[in-house]
Amino acid sequence: MNSKFKKILITGASTGIGRQLALDYGRDGASLWLLARTESKLQDLVLQIQDSGGKARSLVCDATIEKNLLAALQTAQDESGGCDLVIANAGWGGKMMYPSDRNIHVLNQVIDLNYKAAAQTLEFFARFMAEDCHGHLVGVSSIAGFRGVPAGAAYSSTKAALSTYLESLRFSMHHFGVRVTDIRPGFVRTPMTDNNKIPMPFLMEVDVASRKIRRALERGRKRFTFPWQMAIMIHLLAGMPDFLYDWFAFRTYGKLARSGRPGKSEENRSG
Ligand SMILES: NC(=O)c1ccc[n+]([C@@H]2O[C@H](COP(=O)([O-])OP(=O)(O)OC[C@H]3O[C@@H](n4cnc5c(N)ncnc54)[C@H](OP(=O)(O)O)[C@@H]3O)[C@@H](O)[C@H]2O)c1
Repeated sequence: MNSKFKKILITGASTGIGRQLALDYGRDGASLWLLARTESKLQDLVLQIQDSGGKARSLVCDATIEKNLLAALQTAQDESGGCDLVIANAGWGGKMMYPSDRNIHVLNQVIDLNYKAAAQTLEFFARFMAEDCHGHLVGVSSIAGFRGVPAGAAYSSTKAALSTYLESLRFSMHHFGVRVTDIRPGFVRTPMTDNNKIPMPFLMEVDVASRKIRRALERGRKRFTFPWQMAIMIHLLAGMPDFLYDWFAFRTYGKLARSGRPGKSEENRSG
């Protein structure tokens, strides 16, 4: 796929979806600014991208520390002279268990990363893109934002907030010719889902997810929920009356609701 995007910033680029997007855009010859906390993974990625003909620069940063995040984004802005694509992708599943004395801490971490840092990243670049009347802003939300999912109070609510933020931002950016896209993946095989014990219908490989996301962005989609089977299912669930949705949710993820959300994502270091 030959991309129209030449200068790209991606947060959460060290693993999973962000990493795959970086590799694929790098292969197309883009210049990339890649933000995450793990320096070694970012350095390996930078080398891989350079080997494949792209240009990449790592921005090692905890996105939940506002001062550091804004400094890293300013570096990308200064070096690029203005990105044409910004993908706020960094996210964490969070583990909500009941009863637990950690839930407020987890909640804060998830809000800070999935909502605050994502919105701050997009808001930072919205100003420059509006001035230039050019660019594309992208948030990676989730199908979990359509309805509250068991054990996912923090995750679901922050993804719903991010999607609503993106929709509002879209109206503001419209006058400046700046596009805004809300990406809502179903299950993708990444470190976030690696240790999941829950059913993951239509689980998708990360290279396939990256291809679908890139195609949606080339087409300027406003909202992209995928895979299509999951999009149909989730829209049906979104319109379901509560008694039916509760029955479905308890039946499929009832055990999870009692035992908490398993998975590698619970190891978030700042958590
Ligand atoms: N995989 C799925 O099934 C799925 C489904 C729907 C939505 N999503 C969304 O897709 C996005 C990417 O997820 P993924 O599946 O690719 O998960 P992942 O492999 O766990 O990637 C998460 C990325 O976020 C970075 N990150 C975590 N905490 C950070 C922090 N405090 N500051 C900066 N970077 C941080 C991680 O890097 P470091 O640890 O190096 O900082 C990593 O690069 C997330 O927003 C997720 O919610 C995923």
